[in-house]
Amino acid sequence: MKVSGRHYRTIWVNEDGWSVDIIDQRWLPHDFRVETVRTVDGIATAIRDMWVRGAPLIGVTAAYGVALRMREDASDASLDAAWETLHATRPTAINLRWALDEMRRVLRPLPVSERAKAAYRRAAEIADEDVELNRGIGRNGLEIIRTIAAKKKPGEPVNILTHCNAGWLATVDYGTATAPIYLATEAGIPIHVYVDETRPRNQGAHLTAWEMAGHGVPHTLIVDNAGGHLMQHGMVDMVIVGTDRTTANGDVCNKIGTYLKALAAKDNGVPFYVGLPSPTIDWTVRDGVKEIPIEERSADEVSLVWGRDEDGKTRQVRISPEATPCGNYAFDVTPARLITGLITERGIADASAEGLARLFPERSGMA
Ligand code: MRU
Repeated sequence: MKVSGRHYRTIWVNEDGWSVDIIDQRWLPHDFRVETVRTVDGIATAIRDMWVRGAPLIGVTAAYGVALRMREDASDASLDAAWETLHATRPTAINLRWALDEMRRVLRPLPVSERAKAAYRRAAEIADEDVELNRGIGRNGLEIIRTIAAKKKPGEPVNILTHCNAGWLATVDYGTATAPIYLATEAGIPIHVYVDETRPRNQGAHLTAWEMAGHGVPHTLIVDNAGGHLMQHGMVDMVIVGTDRTTANGDVCNKIGTYLKALAAKDNGVPFYVGLPSPTIDWTVRDGVKEIPIEERSADEVSLVWGRDEDGKTRQVRISPEATPCGNYAFDVTPARLITGLITERGIADASAEGLARLFPERSGMA
C-alpha cells in the first residue's frame, strides 16, 4: 500500500540481493522507519520483539530468516537450527510453523550448494502468494459489504468494527480483515470503520488507525470495551477481524478481546466475519480453546504504555502501581458457533469442519 505516495510492502530484499528490509512497526504511527536485517538472529529478534507482527507477516519474515541463514551455512544442521530459533519466537500464529515447514520441505532435498538461492526464491514466492491470498479475501469480502451497502440509504456508510491490526502491516500487502475495506473504498462504497484500540499494545490505535488515515478511510478509534455498546445501538453493520490460527472445525484464535466482540455481536445479531488466508488454518487442531497455545507476554506491556509527548519524544509511562502483578494473555479463541463466516481466498466458508472441507477438500484430509 502507499505511504507518502510511494508503494511499500512490509518486507523486501534489498538491491544487494540478500539483506532484508522491514518496516519497523514499533515506531508507528509517529515515525515510519525501515530496518535492514542481515542475520537469522536479527530476524528472530524482529519477530519476538514485534518489529514485525501479524500472523501472515510473521510467516514471511521467518521464511526470509531461513534464507539469510542458508546464505551463511546451508547444511542440514544449520537448516534445523534456523527452524528451531525462528519457531521459538512466537507460539500462537500458525503461519510461522507453516512457512518454516514449507522452507524445510523445499530445501532439504536439494544439494547444499543450491539451497541459499532456492531459499530466497521460495521466500519471495511465499510473500507474493500472501498478497494474492489477501486480494482474494478482499474480492470475496467485498461482496458481503456490497450486500449490506445495498440495504442502506444512498451515501450512508457501512459501519465495520475491527479489532487489533489485520491490515496490510500484518501481512505483505492489503491485509486480511482490511482487504475488503480497501476494495470497497476503491469501489466507491462509503465505509466507516470503528477501530478497537486493542490493549495492551494498542495495535488498533497505533497501526490500524494509521492505515485507515493513510488510505482515506473514515474511521473512529474506540476503547476496547465500547464495541458492545455500539452494537446495542445499531451502530455496527458487521465485524471483520483477522486470525492467528483457525482450527479445522472453524474456531478462530485472534488478538485478546476478539471473543468478547464475537459474544456481543451474537447477542445483537451483528454478522461477525473473519478474514482467513488458508495458511492460517491448522488442520491438525479441532478444539481451539483446549489445543491452541496462547502466548503470554511481558507484564510491562500491561503496566507501561507507549506514547509521544508534546515535545515529540516517544516515552513509556507507568499506569499501575509498580508492585501490581499483571497478566498478559495475547490471544483468545472465538468458538466457531459465534462466527457468521470465514472469508477465505476461495470464498466464504461456514465456520465448521464441513464448511472448510468444502472449500479446501485437498487439505481437509489432514484433519
Ligand atoms: O500480536 P500481533 O500484533 O501479532 O497480533 C496480530 C493479530 O492478532 C492479527 O489480528 C492476526 O495476526 C491476523 S493478521 C492478518
